[in-house]
Amino acid sequence: MKKGKILILGAGSIGSYLAAKFFHANYHVDVIGRKADRIGDRLYINNQAFDFPLTSSEINVQLTYDFIFLTCKVFDLKKNLHKLKERSPKSKIIILLQNCLFDISELERTYNQDLTSLLVYDGFNLIENRLKHTQGSGFLIGSDKHTESLLRLFKDSHIEIKKNENIQQHRIEKAIYNCVINIFSATHSKTIRELFADAEITEHMQNILYESHEVLSQEMEIAQDKEIMWDNLSRFASNLDHYASTYQDVRENKVTELAFLNGFIIDLGRKVGIATPLNIEAVDKFKRKYPNLY
Ligand SMILES: NC(=O)c1ccc[n+]([C@@H]2O[C@H](COP(=O)([O-])OP(=O)(O)OC[C@H]3O[C@@H](n4cnc5c(N)ncnc54)[C@H](OP(=O)(O)O)[C@@H]3O)[C@@H](O)[C@H]2O)c1
Repeated sequence: MKKGKILILGAGSIGSYLAAKFFHANYHVDVIGRKADRIGDRLYINNQAFDFPLTSSEINVQLTYDFIFLTCKVFDLKKNLHKLKERSPKSKIIILLQNCLFDISELERTYNQDLTSLLVYDGFNLIENRLKHTQGSGFLIGSDKHTESLLRLFKDSHIEIKKNENIQQHRIEKAIYNCVINIFSATHSKTIRELFADAEITEHMQNILYESHEVLSQEMEIAQDKEIMWDNLSRFASNLDHYASTYQDVRENKVTELAFLNGFIIDLGRKVGIATPLNIEAVDKFKRKYPNLY
């Protein structure tokens, strides 16, 4: 007897990981994925084989799902929320996993739908049916009426998750770090450790962090000041031997989420009247190198 019904919309790096882990823990899992046929019936997570559930291209509207995970990129969110609304599968909880800067309450208003979001501190990279999972500090969840059931689901599926009362602060800080690391890793084709080994790039990253912090702090409270954030980043990230996820996207010729990171800072800067020359320059440089991937 299956324990509960889950829909995963988007069978990319994170979606395929969650699908395989939930399926392994004996949940009923439906997966919608444009490229899911490359996974087939077996996914290898760090070389360990997991059975993979059946995938389809359409949502099964007969079922009532206990959880729907939207595991698409942030630029596909609206389209997919629209699709869910049109097809109206019955579900108790819709969960977002996008680690970017976007207004969740605006989406809730537009689609008249409660949304729960998780922050993700691990790294996932899917190539064919092989997934590389780089362990960070797992998934982070805030407090709302769905927290306990999600904690149970993740723990039951052996996925690391922690509850944190301050998830909004973590989201903002993570977004600032992503504005710094992702664009440089992609533009310079360097691992995070290699970025910090280059004094010129390091100085540039520090200045982007300061500029992004200044802009965001006009609209939201940021608990840590910019110097402390930079100290933390250089201490924790400078030994990371992997590429940022944006670099993985460009290597696969996939559109990146930079418009929802540095692009968000540039737009907000315009709105609040703060110049963002460093973010603009970094984006221009990225666009020159990858004209179709911004
Ligand atoms: N990967 C990580 O390490 C990581 C870590 C933290 C957070 N995140 C967040 O998680 C989100 C997903 O990242 P990801 O790396 O898993 O992206 P990804 O590998 O690009 O996966 C997204 C998948 O969703 C599919 N998709 C989107 N809309 C669809 C639809 N209507 N029907 C079928 N398939 C659909 C895409 O198909 P197409 O390719 O055909 O468009 C793609 O395969 C991002 O917002 C990212 O910020 C990722």
